[in-house]
Amino acid sequence: MTTRTNKKTIKVKKLISERVEKLSPSGIRKFFDMLADMEDVISLGVGEPDYATPWHISEAAVRSLEKGYTMYTSNSGIPELRELTSSYLKEKYNIDYSSQGEILITVGVSEALDLALRAIINPGDEVIMTDPHYVAYPSCVILAGGKPVMVPTYQENSFQIEAKDIEARITDKTKAILIGFPSNPTGAVMGRRKLLDIAEVAQKHNLIVISDEIYARLTYGMEHTCFASLPGVRENTILLGGFSKAYAMTGWRVGYAVASKEIITAMTKIHQYTIMCAPTMAQVAAIEALKSGESSVLEMVEDYNRRRLLIVKGLNDIGLTCFEPRGAFYAFPSITSTGMTSEEFSEKLLLEEKVAVVPGLAFGQCGEGYVRCCYATSLSDIEEALSRMKRFVAKYKK
Ligand SMILES: Cc1ncc(COP(=O)(O)O)c(C=O)c1O
Repeated sequence: MTTRTNKKTIKVKKLISERVEKLSPSGIRKFFDMLADMEDVISLGVGEPDYATPWHISEAAVRSLEKGYTMYTSNSGIPELRELTSSYLKEKYNIDYSSQGEILITVGVSEALDLALRAIINPGDEVIMTDPHYVAYPSCVILAGGKPVMVPTYQENSFQIEAKDIEARITDKTKAILIGFPSNPTGAVMGRRKLLDIAEVAQKHNLIVISDEIYARLTYGMEHTCFASLPGVRENTILLGGFSKAYAMTGWRVGYAVASKEIITAMTKIHQYTIMCAPTMAQVAAIEALKSGESSVLEMVEDYNRRRLLIVKGLNDIGLTCFEPRGAFYAFPSITSTGMTSEEFSEKLLLEEKVAVVPGLAFGQCGEGYVRCCYATSLSDIEEALSRMKRFVAKYKK
């Protein structure tokens, strides 16, 4: 671009970096913007708990402020929080990661994911992931200078990823496999057997596995398998976990990354120059969550399960076939019976019936033909949303 000032021609450099220009805006944002100006909307859109953080957790943070505990913490996070995270992982999954150098406290899994990718990716490296996937995955890979490579997953296969499909996409540029189970947006979970197959492929091709397990505590009728608990994966696994979903702490912005010392040291280098440390009071709240938040987690999971059963049955009854999600708090019904694209469906449903869902396309090409319904909302709202959706589907069903 050129511009003229005082008759001189000045060359103006392109303002925005190529990496950022390559990113497409989140398909979710558009719907939240529309929603902001509407009243009486039932939102199955936003992917976060409808609960406030259990009060004893918030209170611990309030007390810390009263005591003037408002300074930076160590870059790696408050030692007690790292120790509790280490013990928690040992107790839950029987894995041994030292609080001294193998655990980094981050600003949510969001930061942990970004650090993990930036710490390992060289320009042009490929990262294999599922399609559909959490909205941030491809963009974070691109921002880190890498290239996302998709493995399609399908409802017929319960949206699970197969090791053979990963292996078929490995090239000499492949650096890592990024998995996120229980899955946002599908609610799919992966059993131990299939994860073992992935671990084998990763080891055979010397790849790093980044396992985003933010929904680990939200499973229904089955135990979560932590990828880092599989034999032989210790050196090439980065486990990401957090407090946002299980403890209803999305706004606190605290999570963690767990990996070998070499990887955590690299991630900490980026973290110390860009973030310094996770918010101090949020770390204090996370300490309280790990010390005495367990019963709240169990109560919330029981409640999510009731909502899950209601929404999955309701969606199937109105003709939006929905496979049974066994984790997270999302249902991912097919909307192909209406003949609409996922964007048309979501937009019309919002405008005509005031129910907000997220178009499946926002989560990748394989999400087309589906919408994401977050059921972390009250039973009465789910019932009302289902009755509005029933009317809507009856109107448009082909
Ligand atoms: C799969 C997945 N990973 C990571 C995140 C971000 O979590 P946090 O709040 O810990 O940054 C989300 C939030 O929705 C998510 O769904």
